[in-house]
Amino acid sequence: MCGIIGYIGPRSAAPILISGLKRLEYRGYDSAGVALVSRRALRVYKKEGKLAKLQAALPKRLGGKIGIGHTRWATHGAPSDANAHPHVSADGSIAVVHNGIVENATELRERLATEGVTFVSETDTEIIAHLVARADGESLEQRVRGALALVRGTYGIAVVDARAPDRIVVARNGSPVIIGLGEHEMFVASDVAALVRHTRQVVHLDDGEIAVLDTGGFHTTTMDERPIAKSPSTVEWEDGAYERGGHAHYMRKEIFDQPEAVARTLSGRLDHHFHTAHLGGLNLDPRELLDVKRVKLLGCGSAYYAGLAGAHLIESLVRIPASAEPAAEFRYRNPVIERDTLYVAISQSGETIDTLMAVQEVRQSGGRVLGVVNVVGSSIAREVDGGIYMHAGPEVSVASTKAYTCSLVCLALLALHLGRARDLSPEQGRRLIDAMERLPAGIEAALAAESHLEAIARRYADSRSAFYIGRGPGFPIALEGAQKLKEISYIHAEAYPASELKHGPLALIGPDIPTVIALPHDALLDKSIASLEEVRARSGPVIALTHPGDGRIAGRADAIIEVPPSEDVLNPVVMGVPLQLFAYHCALALGRDIDQPRNLAKSVTVE
Ligand code: F6R
Repeated sequence: MCGIIGYIGPRSAAPILISGLKRLEYRGYDSAGVALVSRRALRVYKKEGKLAKLQAALPKRLGGKIGIGHTRWATHGAPSDANAHPHVSADGSIAVVHNGIVENATELRERLATEGVTFVSETDTEIIAHLVARADGESLEQRVRGALALVRGTYGIAVVDARAPDRIVVARNGSPVIIGLGEHEMFVASDVAALVRHTRQVVHLDDGEIAVLDTGGFHTTTMDERPIAKSPSTVEWEDGAYERGGHAHYMRKEIFDQPEAVARTLSGRLDHHFHTAHLGGLNLDPRELLDVKRVKLLGCGSAYYAGLAGAHLIESLVRIPASAEPAAEFRYRNPVIERDTLYVAISQSGETIDTLMAVQEVRQSGGRVLGVVNVVGSSIAREVDGGIYMHAGPEVSVASTKAYTCSLVCLALLALHLGRARDLSPEQGRRLIDAMERLPAGIEAALAAESHLEAIARRYADSRSAFYIGRGPGFPIALEGAQKLKEISYIHAEAYPASELKHGPLALIGPDIPTVIALPHDALLDKSIASLEEVRARSGPVIALTHPGDGRIAGRADAIIEVPPSEDVLNPVVMGVPLQLFAYHCALALGRDIDQPRNLAKSVTVE
């Protein structure tokens, strides 16, 4: 949720830190700061608010070839200059940036206070700075190790010491730390987004590891001082993939990326001979596929909604029970883990803590868990037994769009693969493959209607509330549509199975609350039209999301959004797209901060 950057090398550190923070701002944007070591002294600049405020506060010329920076999403202590990172020890020698949470912060704070330490912030991170400064040990590495031995909780940290201006010490426990390898220079970040401008050669730290970076390279050890050899990997995404590419917002760019992103998700994975999907990373042989009796999909937010749509898809194609559950609910209810259930964790970032913990819960109870993940080398990708990468490209806007869509496509591939290993006929497999290959064109057609969606959005952007309803696969479409609207436009939106309307929410329907109804032309269409009538009978404006060709809908809706039809189970893929654009244009009409909505941040790495 927060972002870390660090640099050591021959160049001036400040511009590198600032451009890195710019790339990380989507991870948290309530305050930012940098610490530079220059002439054996720390220079620390911190500002509450967006990064631009910090930039404006920095002196024009800023020395120092070693430094660390941070962009924050508040957990301990409100956003303020004092609570922004880096945090500095009382003697002014140590600066620390930290992602994660110190769970025994209260106890450590009291202990340090009784030893005479005065705190200048409300954060748990400041504790680490004081602990490092007061720890025994000749080297910074030893002192960091000593300090972390007292800390309980999660952390990704980078530490500099004004008295040791030739190194950065970094450590990881539950929060990502990635080292970037340059020529006579080294970088560190919590996200490859901040590194790719400088290098695509990276090393991911694992939990319980500490690394020391200097201009000659890095060395890694475990907390108990065992040396660890780490080999670099190459980042899949190039620097240009992080640019907005002429779009006003990352969200719009990512919505328009979808035809290409889906084509990449499918690329090389469709087998026209056996009418199945090639999924090399699953690590499941055909016999193991036959042993799967149930599928359980786990994720948070939009990833959970993709899981709900995926569960429909899997259950109807594979004919085994499939269900989805929010990862945090799952992990805290002491779930029964079954050997013949296939667990699937869905996560764009691969760092969402609740999803990661759910994966660990399954694995430690002997279950098998797959990942549907976008970020290669992320914590979830490294923890699972196998999986399918989305290949959606980087998603920067806080609101998930292309990752939601690509995760659904991954689940369709999984359903095809599982189904064909069981009872799905070659003909059904062939039809599904044809339909999957038509998805990019279907999405293109949905995108082509942008100006129509913009006009509808302008009409309804002043609504104080909206309903989204659907049946069967239409319900996850409604959930995700409502999610997009509320998170970026701040219009209250609720999603219901259309059949549930008359069991309560109908009481709220009236002329000033629009209802978006998903009306795919599937077996439930007649029933869905009956729900539309229930809304109309209460004078509720209706926005119908459907396919061309059913004369009954035109006269009954106040606005119609049409997308090309697909196989029933794949309808959520294309039907999600206009709802993304509708939410985008509502937010635009209301002048919202679309890519960085209030109270939110990309990738929730704290509980
Ligand atoms: C909504 C949104 C969030 C994420 C959720 C999971 O637009 O972005 O609901 O979907 O926080 O994130 P990942 O997929 O990174 O695990």
